[in-house]
Amino acid sequence: MNAPAPLSRQMLNLAEPTDDGWFDRVRDHLDTILIDHAHLEKRAASTALSMIFRYTGRAGLARQLSAVVQEEMDHFSRMLDVLETRGVELIRLEPAPYASRLVKAVRPQEPYTFMDKLLVAGLIEARSCERFAILSENVEDPELAAFYRELFETEAMHYTLYTNLARDHFSKEEVKERLLELAKIEVEALRAGGSIPRLHSF
Ligand SMILES: [Fe+2]
Ligand SMILES: [Fe+2]
Repeated sequence: MNAPAPLSRQMLNLAEPTDDGWFDRVRDHLDTILIDHAHLEKRAASTALSMIFRYTGRAGLARQLSAVVQEEMDHFSRMLDVLETRGVELIRLEPAPYASRLVKAVRPQEPYTFMDKLLVAGLIEARSCERFAILSENVEDPELAAFYRELFETEAMHYTLYTNLARDHFSKEEVKERLLELAKIEVEALRAGGSIPRLHSF
């Protein structure tokens, strides 16, 4: 199996890459990371579905996001398989403050709410994508490593899909500027979780 291609920060528009120590910090909590990841897939499906409800009529959005909903639900059910194989139960888990911090950065007036929701969703996909690449390179179970390699690719496409949707509806300059601002907030949101073992902690 080939290792994932090195991720460039520019490619994912992340303001800072994950440091080399992250996997070492979560290594002994892998089951917790997997539970957190299962919840994340469910939330990703829910985010895409809620945007379909809220932004009905925006050209191309429903079709593109319905594919995302289906893919995220597929990831969720495959995560349930992963947990079952390992004898781990999908328990409730206090989420990292990451997503709620990012949601707070969404501007309350339209059409900026729409732009920010797309870009925040894109950044969450980008960070997840980066973390999945790290997991694929480091987990010992070869099946799990292959699964993460596959997810890395899908989430990279989701990142592109969300940011392209923003560019379809707003000027490229506006999107670029706001993406830079939100990418900085994304790193602060990541730090807010401290070192609790979560997919989106520091
Ligand atoms: Fe996913
Ligand atoms: Fe995704």
